[in-house]
Amino acid sequence: MWCTCPVRPLRPPRATRRFLAEPVADDDLERILDAGRWAGSARNRQPWRFVVFRDAGLRGELARLGAYAQHLASAPLVIGLAVDEDSGSDAHFDVGRAAQALMSAAGALGYGTCPATLFPEANVNRAGRLAGAHPPWRMRWAIAVGRAAPPLPPRRGRPAIATGRLPRDAVVREAGWPRS
Ligand SMILES: Cc1cc2nc3c(=O)[nH]c(=O)nc-3n(C[C@H](O)[C@H](O)[C@H](O)COP(=O)(O)O)c2cc1C
Repeated sequence: MWCTCPVRPLRPPRATRRFLAEPVADDDLERILDAGRWAGSARNRQPWRFVVFRDAGLRGELARLGAYAQHLASAPLVIGLAVDEDSGSDAHFDVGRAAQALMSAAGALGYGTCPATLFPEANVNRAGRLAGAHPPWRMRWAIAVGRAAPPLPPRRGRPAIATGRLPRDAVVREAGWPRS
């Protein structure tokens, strides 16, 4: 169906999991990191650290630290997200904001990105050792960054995770909506 929006939708970049070998230019990386650094956070605590992984061996190890983290091996660059776990209940929200800022900046510069969750806790410990992150810093997520490779033809059958988004009216409510 054609979009009936009067203007171009302001949607964030979709996930990219297949990458070209082309490296991320140093200037571009600095601009991407700067966007994350300037994300807002509760009480301006900035409870994040961004860990740059360029080395293919390290990226390969990271890719084994999550059940769905394989794309960290094929991207030319990975940015690990360490969170200060002593920073209070807003910290994960804050890191999510920084992550979105990083990914939007990368998208604006023509790069694709996709986060990966590192788990279980033993893998988070291992990721912390690879990153050189010590408590209270825990590296629970990493973002693959690179130029997108041409997409593969769509697979037959149902994808492992749902694609697309819930319809507008399923996610937007007026305050005080009735229990259904
Ligand atoms: C917190 C978080 C963790 C994610 N972890 C993974 C992951 O481990 N592996 C993966 O392939 N994608 C991961 N993703 C990407 C999501 O699968 C993706 O954003 C979602 O399916 C929507 O994809 P789309 O933008 O292409 O529609 C993660 C996204 C978020 C926000």
